[in-house]
Amino acid sequence: MCGIVGYIGHKEAYPILINGLKRLEYRGYDSAGIALINGETRTYKCKGKVSDLESFIGNQNIKGNIGMGHTRWATHGEPNDVNAHPHISLNGHFTVIHNGIIENYDVLKKDLIKNGYTFKSETDTEVLANLIEYIYLKDESVTVEMAVRLALTKVIGAYGILVAAKEDTNMLIAARKGSPLVIGVGDGEYFFASDATPIVEHTKSVIYLDDDHMAIVERNSLTLKTIQNDVLEPEVTQIDLDIESIEKGGYEHFMLKEIFEQPNAIKDTFRGRVSERNKRIYLGGLHQALPKINNAKRMIIIGCGTSWHAGLVGEYLLEEYARIPVEVEYASEFRYRNPIINEDDVVIAISQSGETADTLAAIKLAKEKGATVIGICNVVGSSIPRETHAGVYTHAGPEIGVASTKAFTAQVAVLTMMSLMLGKERGNTNDDIYLQMIKAISSVPDYITKILEQNEKIQEIALKYKDASNFLYLGRGVLFPVALEGALKLKEISYIHAEGYPAAEMKHGPIALIDDKMPVVVIATKDKSYEKIVSNIQEVKARKGVVIAIVTEGDHVIKHLADHVIEIPDHHEAIAPLLTVIPLQLMSYYIAVARGCNVDQPRNLAKSVTVE
Ligand code: AGP
Ligand code: GLU
Repeated sequence: MCGIVGYIGHKEAYPILINGLKRLEYRGYDSAGIALINGETRTYKCKGKVSDLESFIGNQNIKGNIGMGHTRWATHGEPNDVNAHPHISLNGHFTVIHNGIIENYDVLKKDLIKNGYTFKSETDTEVLANLIEYIYLKDESVTVEMAVRLALTKVIGAYGILVAAKEDTNMLIAARKGSPLVIGVGDGEYFFASDATPIVEHTKSVIYLDDDHMAIVERNSLTLKTIQNDVLEPEVTQIDLDIESIEKGGYEHFMLKEIFEQPNAIKDTFRGRVSERNKRIYLGGLHQALPKINNAKRMIIIGCGTSWHAGLVGEYLLEEYARIPVEVEYASEFRYRNPIINEDDVVIAISQSGETADTLAAIKLAKEKGATVIGICNVVGSSIPRETHAGVYTHAGPEIGVASTKAFTAQVAVLTMMSLMLGKERGNTNDDIYLQMIKAISSVPDYITKILEQNEKIQEIALKYKDASNFLYLGRGVLFPVALEGALKLKEISYIHAEGYPAAEMKHGPIALIDDKMPVVVIATKDKSYEKIVSNIQEVKARKGVVIAIVTEGDHVIKHLADHVIEIPDHHEAIAPLLTVIPLQLMSYYIAVARGCNVDQPRNLAKSVTVE
């Protein structure tokens, strides 16, 4: 969760660390801290934002060419100054920052207390700092590196850590298990971070640490080994991420920028995969796994939050076009219920960040049971693509706003392509439908641009209902998951209670909630359920509910029934989720802004949920 940055080189570390922490702010956090090493180690930490840390540091000594910075998202102990990282071991030998959770911290802590250790904070991280020190001091022959390594072999849980030692002030040790860590390679300098965003402005050459690997780094050397002490050859890769794409580019918020980026993001998702000219859809990333996929008896889609909603859209599309039975599960539930998985099952894991702990754990379980696992991920080089047998990157570009927008449409775009490609491969989609669909898919970016042109109208509607306490979202078929996603978007950023329902289910319960104060957003574009959903709108109106309807351009029937309509260009049914979600994203955004909420970093949420 949240973030780690580090630097070792000849430059002043402080500005690099502070800027790096700002780049990582999008991950969500509650406190921040820094350690600067200049012969001796100075630490500064406090509850609040990175800007609060800067004010707190003020004119204090910030000299040092080595340092580490951390943003914490509390798991053990409330967010306060003491629990903020870095943590220093009892006798001051080790300084540690950590992302993740030490699950057996309690047992380790009890042992350390028996051996005379006391603790200042409630964190699991301080336990790790003290464990390293205990191992180091207990036996004179144990070096700093050995102490870190041995401590990590005793730890159960997830960590991305940076460790500095009093005995060697020209070295930093980085290690990872389940919580990401990237090392940027410069000229006589190294950068460390939880993802590449703080590193790209310094270097494009990076080393991704794998689970159970640690790097012992000095200004001019890096030794990579496993925590079992096997030395490894570091693999330096080049990253393709430019700095403009992670800045706001004139928009008030990242979320708004990302909503407006969708036509281009989807073009990037389709690039080289959908060809109208060659009449072909092909996902190269699935090539190796195709024999398995073509013989699959069943697909299981796993994900969390918005990615799970994309999975539900995928279920409809894969069943409709590829005729493969599909089950969709929350990754967190899947992993804890001893699921029945066969070797001829294909598991599709969907994740924007590629680091979601529950999804990663579910992937590992599926692999253990012999399934073929495919990833659909946005962050290149993240853990999920590296854990899966094959996969497709969504290529939506960095998504900084905590509320996912363009990553969702890109995930749905991949699932749409996948459904058609597999439909064709398995002989279940005929040529006419296949060609119609290629045409339909290719029109998505232009249609989204047209929907975005209604920005002001959507803002006006949003402002009318900004003070509502509840919202209901209704959709049918493939648009039911869009209703869920609309409701999630509103809850996350405006803190208004909202629920998504299949429209026909309304009469089995939620209809009791409807009165003249209840806005009901109905996704009612022209498809095979159209007549039914018109009846659902009438049911809402009969109870004086307010209806905001997303309709197909030129729909006069619903125009007369609903209080507001937002029109979508006439389209093929299969691309409806990609279009109808756009006004819902904009509406949530404008409601949240009007309520004065922190849209890009909503309370209590983190961009990358690397804890269970
Ligand atoms: C999306 O708006 C949410 N912030 C959240 O539900 C998110 O989709 C979920 O945590 C999964 O993240 P992932 O796609 O990075 O795995
Ligand atoms: N578990 C640690 C804590 O609560 C680290 C949390 C994090 O990933 O920031 O301090």
